[in-house]
Amino acid sequence: MQVKCFDTTSDLDLYAARLFASALKAKPEATLGLATGSTPIGIYEKMIEMYENGEMSFQYATTFNLDEYVGLPPDHEQSYARFMRRHLFGHIDLPAGKAHLPNGNAADLAAECAGYDRMLEAQPVDIQLLGIGHNGHIGFNEPDEELQGGTHIVALEQDTREANARFFASIDEVPTQAITMGVGSILKAESILLVVKGADKAAIVKQALQGPITTECPASLLQTHKNVTVLVDREAGRLL
Ligand code: F6R
Repeated sequence: MQVKCFDTTSDLDLYAARLFASALKAKPEATLGLATGSTPIGIYEKMIEMYENGEMSFQYATTFNLDEYVGLPPDHEQSYARFMRRHLFGHIDLPAGKAHLPNGNAADLAAECAGYDRMLEAQPVDIQLLGIGHNGHIGFNEPDEELQGGTHIVALEQDTREANARFFASIDEVPTQAITMGVGSILKAESILLVVKGADKAAIVKQALQGPITTECPASLLQTHKNVTVLVDREAGRLL
């Protein structure tokens, strides 16, 4: 596992965007695993700049997002589908049909999960972008005695709903469930880029990278992967 610490988030974002640009240069038809949340926004901004400057093209790429809320239609202001259009897909040359997110509004959620896994098997992720939750979640795989391998439905922890309430009018509007790629699917990616920003993530990133490998900290399972790069800003990396 390689850990790189950056003095500024702007440097970190640029470095991460360049890793994706290199992956696409080496393999234009690469499959990219993408995340939502605050962490990747600056990275997506750099990708858009690079696309506009002709340094990066998504024309032949395919993307899979980690997760989506259950019960929010794709056009809902806070759906992850909308987030991705707002922060990335609406600004780049990725063909519309090549951007995949689990459909949290599907009538048959079990079939949706199975279908997402089949697509991931057919087009394995070359490079997976991850953030980390304060409780060590990756995707929406919350700490538990057991974790699931494939795409599945999860009940969101109170802590996670509170963290995400900032995007909704009130916590009551935050969905109680999400559909997420499983830790098994995440670990199948050829390479993983874990990005961690801010002092409030310093303790959990230390636990994930240097603590015991346990389902009670899902991100700690990344220690078992052969090709993980961790990018931290100074605040997030201060305990490492
Ligand atoms: C989002 C996701 C989550 C976030 C995590 C951190 O698709 O999978 O695991 O990466 O909750 O969120 P932020 O970046 O908002 O701190």
